[in-house]
Amino acid sequence: MKVGFIGTGSMGSTIIEALIQSGALEPSQLIASNRTRNKVQQLAAQYPGLQLASCNVETVQESDIVFLCVKPSEFKAVLNEIAQYVKPSLIVVSITSPVLISHLERQLSCKIAKIIPSVTNYVWSGASLCMYGSRIQTEDRLLLEQLMMSISRPVQVSEQYTRITSDISSCGPAFIAFFAQKWIEAAVEVTGIERNEAERLASEMLLGTGKLLTEGGFSLEHLRQRVAVPGGITAEALRLLDGELDGVFQQLIQVTHAKYEEDLHKVESQLFGEELNRPQC
Ligand SMILES: NC(=O)c1ccc[n+]([C@@H]2O[C@H](COP(=O)([O-])OP(=O)(O)OC[C@H]3O[C@@H](n4cnc5c(N)ncnc54)[C@H](OP(=O)(O)O)[C@@H]3O)[C@@H](O)[C@H]2O)c1
Repeated sequence: MKVGFIGTGSMGSTIIEALIQSGALEPSQLIASNRTRNKVQQLAAQYPGLQLASCNVETVQESDIVFLCVKPSEFKAVLNEIAQYVKPSLIVVSITSPVLISHLERQLSCKIAKIIPSVTNYVWSGASLCMYGSRIQTEDRLLLEQLMMSISRPVQVSEQYTRITSDISSCGPAFIAFFAQKWIEAAVEVTGIERNEAERLASEMLLGTGKLLTEGGFSLEHLRQRVAVPGGITAEALRLLDGELDGVFQQLIQVTHAKYEEDLHKVESQLFGEELNRPQC
């Protein structure tokens, strides 16, 4: 099996490295192309055997599965380039939320899936959100999930919930890192603790919390109750957070969904602009 990557920026290279380091694929089973060739050259130098494609068409022609790891605004150029070279058996996987499966099925005559990864997949952890198009067969789904299982926990989600599931699974690490950063900045400022020490403690705490929730049989509610005993210090601090964060998460969801709608609209105008503007009869 050969797996291709179009786009080896942050996420493309993360998935490639995780697939190789987990032992799921040999470098020789991978082929990649990127607009700026130097990025693939670096990967090929790091992982001898990884095939450096001269263009996106070569990636498509040489692969059984191709991951499209470009930004939403870059899809039109890539689809225009590859459309006439995809064979019906090829599985094209988009990792981008505002490009719909139906968009891709209209543009490409092959099998389409959408799998939204997370930066946590770099350490073979976290979820990957799997959605499948109408041409995907059971064996294709099993193949994709077997591949993703080596670096993540594949979770099948409805495309209707792409944005909110991506908010939690893919944006979540940045949100939690931001929360921890703000907390540590305050800790340094207020108490004078060494930043490195506070960061190390926060990282260990996050790892342990994740393990309790995934392997330890704890629910979020159970975890909160176990730590925040009535009348204790944690309970006092939680009362503060509860008040200060009231409404913040509703606003966060509004922001991510508004940006998603904006990106979706731009992608649709780019891909089907003439059709959308055509008067309806
Ligand atoms: N970052 C995350 O944690 C994350 C998680 C889940 C999903 N995603 C999704 O993944 C997608 C990519 O995100 P990213 O963070 O990896 O972005 P990125 O770092 O900007 O990577 C995009 C890559 O695509 C390349 N590219 C652009 N046009 C191309 C073309 N026509 N042919 C070949 N390569 C082309 C770019 O090349 P250049 O070097 O020339 O710029 C760049 O290396 C986004 O849609 C994002 O929503 C990201």
